[in-house]
Amino acid sequence: MSATPQDILVHTEAGVTTITLNRVDKKNSLTRAMYATLADTLAQAEADASVRAVLLQGDITVFSAGNDIGDFLAQPPAEQDAPVFRFLHAIAAFPKPLVAAVCGPAVGIGTTMLFHCDLVYAGDNAAFSMPFVNLGLCPEAASSLLAPRLLGYHRAAEALLLGEPFMAEAAMEVGLVNRVVPPTECNAIAQAQARKLAAKPLSSLIETKRLMKKGMLEPVLERMAEEGASFGRMLREPAAREAFTAFMEKRRPDFSAH
Ligand code: COA
Repeated sequence: MSATPQDILVHTEAGVTTITLNRVDKKNSLTRAMYATLADTLAQAEADASVRAVLLQGDITVFSAGNDIGDFLAQPPAEQDAPVFRFLHAIAAFPKPLVAAVCGPAVGIGTTMLFHCDLVYAGDNAAFSMPFVNLGLCPEAASSLLAPRLLGYHRAAEALLLGEPFMAEAAMEVGLVNRVVPPTECNAIAQAQARKLAAKPLSSLIETKRLMKKGMLEPVLERMAEEGASFGRMLREPAAREAFTAFMEKRRPDFSAH
């Protein structure tokens, strides 16, 4: 599957690169091509000295429905340099501040990518979920490491084993979200915060982020690699294929044989 150039919009102004997920008719689900664009954009933003912060935003109605299920069925990522893994590596290791604005559903990687953002602003319609088990899969983006750390083990188990969604207020309570705001204002508030960051000395931002994250990158990348190997294998197994086929056929999955 190929992404149209409009699936991801990139705009740099006032030191902030704004990345907008713009495939709203498919709920901003992410294709291979979109992951490649995201990874390339982060690499450019890292290299460009005039970029001091990155804002990742979706639509007022939806942040992202996660991986494009049809795309994953057709081309399950296997190799470590698959676009999805390149994106995850880039977002985990990104040295400059990353801000996210989240409205509506944030499913799967739509939620797990937020563990790697520095500031997260959520519309009061935001709904976070990590339904990997419901899809016959396992966590990705180092969420098996970071969710228990952030949410506490039992809340993480509810989110990761049961796949239960949690809303913006609950996400703020556990510290995944900085502030809950009206959806109509979310992108503008996040943009204003990103511009505040962009007005600060870049070297201080980079050094402070590095120090805050010191010692975390290596275990995160190690866990991502382990999760990625399991995720890639499980994508090809019957439970995931049943879950994905059921989604495409708009019916409930039948896991009785799995
Ligand atoms: N991959 C591919 N297509 C997707 C998608 C995904 N992850 N999520 C939504 N879409 C498509 C739907 O197939 C539908 O396409 P169609 O109009 O051609 O039929 C369109 O986007 C609208 O989706 P729909 O389910 O009708 O919207 P909704 O508002 O009722 O529900 C969601 C929104 C996000 C709750 C729901 O789409 C959903 O649960 N998506 C799957 C999430 C998921 O399991 N992601 C994978 C994580 S690994």
